[in-house]
Formats: sequence, structure tokens, C-alpha cells
Amino acid sequence: MTKRTDITTSSFNAVRLTNDVFWVGAIDWTTRNFHGYNTSRGTTYNAYLIIGEKVTLIDTVKFPFRDEMLARISSVINPKDICYIISNHAEPDHTGALKWIIDKVNPEKVFASKMGVKALNAHYGLNDIITAEDGSELNIGGDLNLSFINTPMLHWPDSMFSYLKEKRILFSQDAFGMHLASGKRFADEMDKYILCEEASKYYANILMPYSKFILKLIEKINSINLQIDIIAPDHGPIYRSSKDIEWISNMYSSWASKKTISKTAVIVYDTMWQTTDVMARAIAEGIELTGATAALYPLQSSHRSDIAAALLKAGALIVGSPTLNNNMFPTVADLLTYIKGLNPTKLIGAVFGSYGWSGEATSQIKQILEDMEVKLISEPIKIKYVPKNEDLLSCQQLGRSIGTQLNKICIENDKND
Ligand code: FEO
Repeated sequence: MTKRTDITTSSFNAVRLTNDVFWVGAIDWTTRNFHGYNTSRGTTYNAYLIIGEKVTLIDTVKFPFRDEMLARISSVINPKDICYIISNHAEPDHTGALKWIIDKVNPEKVFASKMGVKALNAHYGLNDIITAEDGSELNIGGDLNLSFINTPMLHWPDSMFSYLKEKRILFSQDAFGMHLASGKRFADEMDKYILCEEASKYYANILMPYSKFILKLIEKINSINLQIDIIAPDHGPIYRSSKDIEWISNMYSSWASKKTISKTAVIVYDTMWQTTDVMARAIAEGIELTGATAALYPLQSSHRSDIAAALLKAGALIVGSPTLNNNMFPTVADLLTYIKGLNPTKLIGAVFGSYGWSGEATSQIKQILEDMEVKLISEPIKIKYVPKNEDLLSCQQLGRSIGTQLNKICIENDKND
């Protein structure tokens, strides 16, 4: 999106976190596509200003939102007073305006992680970025000190956290974030149901592949006994109450370990002439007969990022496709490519589909699910042309088997809790 820069942005104000720390980011009410992720509630790009003796800016915003950020900074200080800029994460939604603001305010120093230095050079040709070593500290004047914690692969190699010790504020870049545009800045001002939905969707679509790194990071944070009063991420709300901080931290531990597995089977499928569709519905009937839950996602009307979110807790993934020109249906291929990259874990599964004359789709899908380490509970159900009553009973039986297994898994899980 290109924003006009000839319109004044002077009405945009900073939002105070503490007496010397401000949010100076931008709200993107418009975006609905974040490289394949359906951001149905928009997003924010959060940047933060610390008014130390050395005024410090933490992260910036996506390039089209630079004037909004500058206006918010200007509501607190003269932007030229910025001495230091810290780049916690090099992805362009946080560094798009970095070179522009460097040119404008000419800061004394700009810091990033070792990998961040390389990424900022590669993206923008920036040469004078200083490495913020893992565990090092930067005095920003008086009694204010920032320390740096490298968080590689959360979710880029360059990612790091900055921690303002004296105020106990963790600037966590993408971690603990969510895509949610709002006029409110703090989690305690927002609807908890929406926060839960968007935080889990964000985790599933951005962080799920790196769950093992998240578990290690949680260990690291616990081992250094980091005291946190505020978590300030780069997207969505800021957490300032101990209740909210505990909530999001617990959610991350639970999602990263997939501690809670629900009795839900996600059934994703597409259909040409409603024959694969009727198979999907028969499987769903069988699942429901066992007391487990079937969540159907017909791909003609479902977005891949909502399916990814459903897989965060689901215990089963069942995939159906017709065969089109010797291949699985294109929408199914899209979905499988996307979710394979997200690496969902602890899933049982099955494959089904109807076909006309060759029927390769089901074996292709089976191979992909095996590569994803989904534990298939049977061979694919493959029906030629239109399913007969006995075929639909086989589909229902498959659903029953999946539901029965899910019930067992959940009982085992509860015992081990
Ligand atoms: Fe919000 Fe990885 O960028």
C-alpha cells in the first residue's frame, strides 16, 4: 500500500508506557495479506521511544507509515534529538523506515544483532550498524541501561530482544505479537476473546515452525530471572498487567510444547462435483459419533492461515482432494505447501478423495503428510466417480476410527498433565 505523504500527520500522538517510554508506531487498518497470512483485523507496527539522556528509538515501521511514526515521535521530542536506534528485527515491516529516519535524524549510533547487521546491509546497504552482542549492555544515560538478548530464529536469524532493566520492559519484536489494528494500545483495554484468537493465529502462522527455539528461549529467560513488568512487542497490544503477561507467557509455553491437544479433527478438502465433499461430510459424521469434533474447511471458502491456526491445538488432520490432470487439486497443493512449512506437530491423519480415471491425488497427499510426520491411521480412501452407500459408510468408519483415537490421545494427555 502506498500512503500519500502530502497529507499532514500532525494529529498523531505518542502513547505513554511509563514516564520515559512511549509508543511511537503506526496503525495499519487496511492490510489483509501479510505474505499469505490473512490479517483480517489489520495490524500495527510498533516502535518505541525511550527518553534517556541518549534518546533511543527501538525499531521503526513499514515504509508507507514513516510519517505517522515521525509525527508521533515529534509529539514528544524533536526527532533530531534521537541519539541511538536499536533494530531488534530486520524484516521490512520494522525496518522499512529505518534508512529514512537515519537520514532524517542522523543518530550517533544504530545497533542490531550480529545477523541483523548483515541483514540491514543486504536489505538497505546500511554499513555503519554496530553489533549488539548477546548479553551486552548499553547505557543510554543516567541510570537507564538496555541489555540485548539474541533470539535467533524467532523468527528470523537476526531477531533479538532488548530489555530496559530499570523499567523492567522487554521489547520483544515479533514475539508475543499479533496482527490486530486497534485504537487501544494495551491488552488490558481490549476484548480477551479477540486477543486469544489473534495471538494464537499469529503464533500458528509466524512462530509455530520455531517452537523448539521458543521453549529454549523460555528456559533462558527463566534462567537469567528476567523481571518483566511490560512486554512491548512489534505488533498488536502491549502487555502491562501481570495477569496479561502471565497469560501470554503461558500460552507460548503451551503452544510451543503442544501441551493441550483438543479432540478436534481438521478436515480440509476441495471438490469438483461434490463427490469429495460428500466423503468429507461422511467422515465428519463418523467423528462426531465418537464425541470428538470435526472442523470442516472446504478450501473454496477457507483461508490457509485460519487452517494453520486450527492446527495449533487440533489432534488430527484429514485431507481430501479430487484428482485433476493427474495431480491433487491446486487449492490442496497450496494448503499443503503452506502448512508443511509451519511444521505442525502431534497429529494423526487420513487422506481421501474421489477421482475419474487415474486418481493420483490421494497418494501424493499421503506422501506429503508422511513427510510432515503426520501419523496416518489407514491407507487413503479413494472412490471412483460417485461414492455409493457402502463407500460413504467406509468414510464414516474412518471418521469413527479417527474420533476414537483422538479420545484415547486426550485421555492419555490428561493423565500425563
Ligand atoms: Fe513483524 Fe518478522 O516481522
